[in-house]
Amino acid sequence: MEKTEITEEMIFECFAAACKSDDMTMTAESFVDVEEYENRVMYPEFARWASQAGYPELATLFRKVAGEEKLHAVWLRELYTDIGIPRRGEDTQRAIDALETIRANCDALIALNPEGVVEKALTVAIRVEEREYQDIYPHFRDQALEQQDAKTAAVYQKVIDSECQHAQWFQTALSDFRSTQAQATA
Ligand SMILES: [Fe+2]
Ligand SMILES: [Fe+2]
Repeated sequence: MEKTEITEEMIFECFAAACKSDDMTMTAESFVDVEEYENRVMYPEFARWASQAGYPELATLFRKVAGEEKLHAVWLRELYTDIGIPRRGEDTQRAIDALETIRANCDALIALNPEGVVEKALTVAIRVEEREYQDIYPHFRDQALEQQDAKTAAVYQKVIDSECQHAQWFQTALSDFRSTQAQATA
C-alpha cells in the first residue's frame, strides 16, 4: 500500500457522533455506545500514536481523557440500567472502520512525520470535544428537560462540563506542543 500523509480529515473520520432519538432510552444507548468507543478504541489509539511518536506526556493525557469517557458512560448507565451491551450505532461502526484503515499504515507514517501525526490528533481531539459539548450533548440535555427528567438532564450537563474541560486540556496541550516545536526550529 502506498504511504500517504495521514490528514486531519482522515483522523476526524474516527469520531463517532452519538445520535438523538425520539426515545430517550435510545438516545442514552447511543451515548453509551459512543463514549465506550472513545474509551476503548479511539483515545487509546491516539495515546498509542503519541507514545510511538515520542510524546509520553501527551499519551498520558489521551489516556486520562479516555478514562473520563468511560466515566461518562458509567453515569448514564446508573440511570438506564437496562442498556447492557449497547447496540452498535452506524456512525460508531463507520468510525471503527475508519480507524482500522488508518491503522494499516500509520506506524510507518508516524516514523516519517511524528510531529505531524501528533499535532493532527490533538487538533481532531479538540474538534471532537467541541462538537460534543457545544452541539450534540446540549440537545440530549434539552430533550431530558422537555421530558421533565431533571436527573438525566443533570447528568448530561455534567458531561457537557467535562467535555468542555477536555477541549481546554487539549487546547493547552496543542499550544504547548506548537511553542515547543517553534523553539526547536528557531
Ligand atoms: Fe465523553
Ligand atoms: Fe471528552
